[in-house]
Amino acid sequence: MTKKLEIYKCEICGNIIQVLIPGEGELVCCGEKMKKQEIQTSREEIGEKHMPEIEIRDDKKYVTVNKHPMSEEHYIQFIEVTDKNKSKMYLKYLSPNDKAEFKIPKCMDEIEAVSYCNIHRLWGNKND
Ligand SMILES: [Fe+2]
Repeated sequence: MTKKLEIYKCEICGNIIQVLIPGEGELVCCGEKMKKQEIQTSREEIGEKHMPEIEIRDDKKYVTVNKHPMSEEHYIQFIEVTDKNKSKMYLKYLSPNDKAEFKIPKCMDEIEAVSYCNIHRLWGNKND
């Protein structure tokens, strides 16, 4: 049984998918069970580089992952932000050399955010 907004990866082909509406079935890709991407929450050194942070600049609100490299080999592939009750979701895809930041509506107060690193996977402050 999946849960809303869980992220799964195929270890063979690299497909990454997200559950919009949960179901009973097992997620399979390339003939293998897909691996659920657990949200890492450590605040140790590696966590500090991956943890999405909220920044207010020039009266605008951003979710940033500015301490992380954005090279071809190692970069943040996306930042996702949801409201607390998961009724709205915002996703920004990033490419190498992009700035790892995502402008979000200023009125979004209680948010949860995750970042996805191509090497170190999923990080964030979601709590389930
Ligand atoms: Fe990383």
